[in-house]
Amino acid sequence: MPSMTEIYNRHAFEYDELVSHEDYSGNLPRKLHAIFNFNNKSVIEFGVGTGRLTKLYIQQVKQVSCFDRSVHMLDKAKANLEPFKGKTTLDICDNNYINRLDLKADFIIEGWSFGHTIMENADEVFKTTDKLVSDCALLLEKNGTIIIIETLGTDMEKPIPPAKTLEVFYNYLEEKHNFKRIIIETDYKFTTVHEAVRVLGFFFGEETAKSISEKNNTIVKEFTGIWYRKF
Ligand SMILES: C[S@@+](CC[C@H](N)C(=O)[O-])C[C@H]1O[C@@H](n2cnc3c(N)ncnc32)[C@H](O)[C@@H]1O
Repeated sequence: MPSMTEIYNRHAFEYDELVSHEDYSGNLPRKLHAIFNFNNKSVIEFGVGTGRLTKLYIQQVKQVSCFDRSVHMLDKAKANLEPFKGKTTLDICDNNYINRLDLKADFIIEGWSFGHTIMENADEVFKTTDKLVSDCALLLEKNGTIIIIETLGTDMEKPIPPAKTLEVFYNYLEEKHNFKRIIIETDYKFTTVHEAVRVLGFFFGEETAKSISEKNNTIVKEFTGIWYRKF
């Protein structure tokens, strides 16, 4: 099984296949558009990956600046977001260096990327969270909003942060930085159990593959948290 870094540096196609099966009920776009008004707004997105999250709001917005530290993922995002190239920019930025950007936007959004940064700085969760939030806040237009979308578990029966470090991160976002949390179901749907095992096993590993195989279900449960705060 490849590491996360190998996946983001070499397997954008497989990642894109994975997320194409995620949230088959469309709960994430439904919730995002129910809470936030993206109409004609500017957006900065971090850890854009292949542009899956971007595609959920890009039709409504005026302009989006997308960032990721993986050129390979950005290349796939560029192809996926081709129909919107007139209002999209894609550039390299590591989440640890957001403070180097000189930009402003109405929304800062990220999906399943800050969690990686927190895990990579697991001995400094509070400091890393403070920096991510303050660096993002500096890029916001007046009354702007930060939206953080992170995992609450794949192949789980109820929402649980999959690592203690992430639990600390999520709680700190709420308790110290006053973010609100919303929990949604973002279940995967596959044509066959074999496909579910192959696609999810590639990303999440052998244990997840075995569990999915034993459950013998083409639907794989997943929970996602949306944390947001207006500044
Ligand atoms: C799980 S993917 C999420 C991609 C996309 N947001 C989505 O919703 O599918 C994580 C992404 O974060 C990027 N990433 C991980 N650590 C990063 C960091 N420190 N700085 C910038 N991007 C990072 C990876 O390259 C990858 O594209």
